[in-house]
Amino acid sequence: MKILAFESSCDETSVSIVENGQIRSNIISSQYFHKKYGGVVPELASRAHLEAICELTTIAFEQAKLLPTDIEAIAVTTEPGLIGSLIVGSNFAKGLSVKYNLPIVPINHIEGHIYSGLISNSGCGFPFINLLVSGGHTAIFLVHSFNDYEIVGLTRDDAAGEAFDKIAKLLGLAYPGGPEIDKLAQLGNSKRFDFPRSMINSGDYDFSFSGLKTSVKNFVYKNYPGGVPSEVLPDIAASVQAAIVDVLVAKTIRAAEEHRARNIVISGGVSANSWLREKMKTKAAEIGISTYAPEMGYCMDNAAMIGFIAEKKLLEKGRESFFRLDFRVSANALRSRKKNE
Ligand code: KG4
Ligand code: ZN
Repeated sequence: MKILAFESSCDETSVSIVENGQIRSNIISSQYFHKKYGGVVPELASRAHLEAICELTTIAFEQAKLLPTDIEAIAVTTEPGLIGSLIVGSNFAKGLSVKYNLPIVPINHIEGHIYSGLISNSGCGFPFINLLVSGGHTAIFLVHSFNDYEIVGLTRDDAAGEAFDKIAKLLGLAYPGGPEIDKLAQLGNSKRFDFPRSMINSGDYDFSFSGLKTSVKNFVYKNYPGGVPSEVLPDIAASVQAAIVDVLVAKTIRAAEEHRARNIVISGGVSANSWLREKMKTKAAEIGISTYAPEMGYCMDNAAMIGFIAEKKLLEKGRESFFRLDFRVSANALRSRKKNE
């Protein structure tokens, strides 16, 4: 089945065409102009989606060598995210649905990320433990199938990506800070500074990253009140990165052991982190667990992951179930699916 998919929940406009689990095109336009504000400005984000979406759709068709009349269904992110941005994607999708008489599958962005690690990784079977680490979310899921998963752990405050971004800002690095810290850390000594591994031994699968941010802030103000010298930055970056990654890896592997999952999938923007990818793979392999991570283009927000999971829903429920246009967008974050709640 050929599916045209849209993602516009935050600061990436993306259009993809997916066919039988294969990605025919995945065009992503990142709104880098938010850098100068130190974070995403919602109103500007929705306007930029509006300006980009039409042209990106044309490019997605060109790259896939297909025409709109070849498409059999549309998929679009409807939650969670910035309301104005979600409205741009969903209304564009609704317009095309009317014009070409196509069904639309509304997709939860989080579900897109959860299954994104399976794109080009068909060897990963169910059940698997998913560590979803992005700018907005940090969670561990136990995933039973394409339509059944439950939350095992959540962050109690900042998301891992948010921690990377806020700490990078403190260190005077550009936004988004995750990739900047990743790059600098490759030149640094991760053992030089001992930052807290919050909740690493808490016995549950929840996370907390706000203490780390405060600890780095106090450390910087105390030791480098005039600004962090550039020669120290790589060691701080490596030490911060190690503190975040240690907790993510320890909890994810423990969750896999407890739930007897032989596979781990890491996904979301932070799954692009080179140290997280390497450490998870090595530590999990020591106890016979396989680790899967999305290709780089499917780590950050992208429409390919939206089309990929939409196809599974279409196969399960049939095209006829998706001709309703009265669905709404929602800013809501994860609804709890923890056991016994
Ligand atoms: O999934 P994503 O593109 O958007 C959200 O849904 O939030 O994730 C963006 C986050 C940002 O916080 C960014 O700093 C982080 O992913 N990120 C990284 C790396 N690349 C992106 N964090 C650590 N290391 C990286 N290499
Ligand atoms: Zn995301």
